[in-house]
Amino acid sequence: MRDKKYVLTEQDMPRQWYNIMADMPTPMEPPLHPGTGQPCGPEDLAPIFPMNLIEQEVSTQRWIDIPEEVLDKYAIWRPSPLYRAHNLEKTLDTPAKIYFKNEGVSPAGSHKPNTALAQAYYNKVAGTKKITTETGAGQWGSALAMCCSFFGIECKVFMVKISYNQKPYRRLMMETWGANCTASPSNETRAGRSILEKDPDSPGSLGMAISEAVEEAVSDDNTKYALGSVLNHVMIHQSIIGLEAIKQMKMAGDYPDIIIGSAGGGSNFAGLAMPFALDKINGRDIDIIAVEPTSCPTMTRGPFAYDFGDTVQMTPMLPMHTLGHNFVPAPIHAGGLRYHGMAPIVSQLILDNIVRPVSIHQIETFKAGFTFARSEGFISAPECNHAIAIAIREALKAKEEGKEKTILFNWSGHGLVDLAAYEAYMRGNLSDHELPQEQIDAALNDIAALPKPQQAT
Ligand SMILES: Cc1ncc(COP(=O)(O)O)c(C=O)c1O
Repeated sequence: MRDKKYVLTEQDMPRQWYNIMADMPTPMEPPLHPGTGQPCGPEDLAPIFPMNLIEQEVSTQRWIDIPEEVLDKYAIWRPSPLYRAHNLEKTLDTPAKIYFKNEGVSPAGSHKPNTALAQAYYNKVAGTKKITTETGAGQWGSALAMCCSFFGIECKVFMVKISYNQKPYRRLMMETWGANCTASPSNETRAGRSILEKDPDSPGSLGMAISEAVEEAVSDDNTKYALGSVLNHVMIHQSIIGLEAIKQMKMAGDYPDIIIGSAGGGSNFAGLAMPFALDKINGRDIDIIAVEPTSCPTMTRGPFAYDFGDTVQMTPMLPMHTLGHNFVPAPIHAGGLRYHGMAPIVSQLILDNIVRPVSIHQIETFKAGFTFARSEGFISAPECNHAIAIAIREALKAKEEGKEKTILFNWSGHGLVDLAAYEAYMRGNLSDHELPQEQIDAALNDIAALPKPQQAT
């Protein structure tokens, strides 16, 4: 029988996270204070985050020890298995070898607990009593809810309204783990009320939900805010995915020519790809592809600029690819990919030609999700279908060119709570959304007056 899974034991689990900031070809530009426009110091971030996480955010140390208590709880779902997708290869009749890292084995069903656990732990150590956050499809909110429950921290989640209505089960998961979940924009915060005044029917966006969560955090000394993607410390925590995958690809006797991840804020993509990206920085030929929806084309159509992380301009300005903090994407089912910005680390690596961004329409991603489910069995989160669709495109290209490529993608989460989206596809009720340039230009107008990074595009 052929090997299907490459499985590590708890003892093989990496003991340190990898921080690519130690190895970036171009150093990152600093975040800027939302009021003064000057580089942010650690004290500027202190009302939002605990100091131990702020230290990680600015760290250029290559390896960061994973605390014993975090390792202990990682062991609930880590190490995660690496699979060889023999059945998908056969369906596609491709000479390509396809591997995927299964991050859907966590109790919350996605990669998000890898950082939720670390963030809850560091907050606990710092004495935080309550954490607020935003969530799109509910994957991040449910991950944080679970990890806060492990450490006895209160958790409050602002969930983007369109997803709150589309995905009631994720809200129930959050409540099961003891969190309080509110549809955003809400009447509970000044930010929410100001948005609702202008547009009472707003479907919400991640940028709006972040404004609400940050506002609630800064109004109480014992409350902090947690972000599920975008920031450097999140990318560091997620590196455990790629570090395990390096060991597992070795077990399989292979090395990827192509690495693929879907990218909302960039964390599951970076988590898998960054430990391999070090080899690319050192000269190895790897095609590292970040996939986004055509209806929210942050990397492929957004400039590299300074922008706020949220709609109401409370967060520091980050140097990143962005569509503007007022951009509201079409209500596609991949709620976790509906974010106007991209992680500064990923953005910088695009400028340095280490990462190649591509965009894809919703219907092709669902078609890929069905092909995957009917060959490998697993039903994928809509976000994850973006990675699968590009893996399929690359495998078919390898067939056309007669090349035996090795493809590795991140299976970032299961879609068992996203079946309404699968139903919409099967009933012919899904559509692709063309995004007119004027809509992007209008949203970018709102950042025209902000400071510009040196490498502004
Ligand atoms: C399953 C899954 N994959 C991917 C993403 C995209 O987020 P990120 O780019 O931070 O990995 C999300 C976000 O919610 C998600 O739930």
